[in-house]
Amino acid sequence: MLKIKKLTVQYGPLPALYEISLEIKQGEIVSLLGPNGAGKTTLLLTLSGILKTTEGRILFEGEDITNLNPHQIVSKGIGHVPQGRHIFPTLSVTDNLMMGAYLHRNEKREIKKQLERIYPLLPVLKERAHQRAGTLSGGEQQMLSIGRAMMGRPKLLLLDEPSLGLAPRLMDEVFAIFRKLNERGLTLFIVEQEIHLSLSISGRGYLLRNGRMIKEGSASALLESRELMISLGGDDRQPEKDETSLS
Ligand SMILES: Nc1ncnc2c1ncn2[C@@H]1O[C@H](COP(=O)(O)OP(=O)(O)OP(=O)(O)O)[C@@H](O)[C@H]1O
Ligand SMILES: [Mg+2]
Repeated sequence: MLKIKKLTVQYGPLPALYEISLEIKQGEIVSLLGPNGAGKTTLLLTLSGILKTTEGRILFEGEDITNLNPHQIVSKGIGHVPQGRHIFPTLSVTDNLMMGAYLHRNEKREIKKQLERIYPLLPVLKERAHQRAGTLSGGEQQMLSIGRAMMGRPKLLLLDEPSLGLAPRLMDEVFAIFRKLNERGLTLFIVEQEIHLSLSISGRGYLLRNGRMIKEGSASALLESRELMISLGGDDRQPEKDETSLS
């Protein structure tokens, strides 16, 4: 469904991603893991057309979508739940959802249908339809951000650290929703630092570090890998043999 070939992305002269390649098949849940500053958000922003690539290609359903504009990417069927949610705080919950349906704004009946599909999964969005989004709790704002992306009717949903700032019980709730969305046919690409939680629903995963893809494999193989253990907080620098002998 998604194929990334040797993607390089730079902020000014500094590359943040070096020749990244990966593939996601339709119906999969795939995790993208890695420490702070690895380039995870940069990769998702590039997939969404917000950042441009200097080298490499992105193919979606066989079509080259490299460097298309964000609205073109949404119209191809890629939704994005950004890191930090980015809801519109002064708008109501419903108006936030409508922003996600912007490309389909003239298809009133379809919008209503999509709302009816989303409400059973994210009931809080119906219960709090008229509440200002900025007054929602953190967990509710995360549900809204997911709901808003779903209003664009994506086939592939990109999620950037959806568990960030959530209590463990809410994290479980959000990941249960991802599982249900996947059962309904949605393909998911999840950036997470909650490695165990994310791999528990993923078939496969990729590990990014310093802008380079250093490991890929099945969820179980990744969980056992040394590279992941190091990224979980270990230190991969070899201690200097006589580091202390000078003192
Ligand atoms: N707008 C920007 N301008 C310059 N450098 C940037 C910009 N945004 C990110 N970077 C740099 O690119 C690198 C990757 O950042 P990115 O946000 O993609 O990491 P991340 O893996 O999402 O980290 P985190 O887990 O903290 O969200 C970092 O070194 C960061 O400082
Ligand atoms: Mg990030």
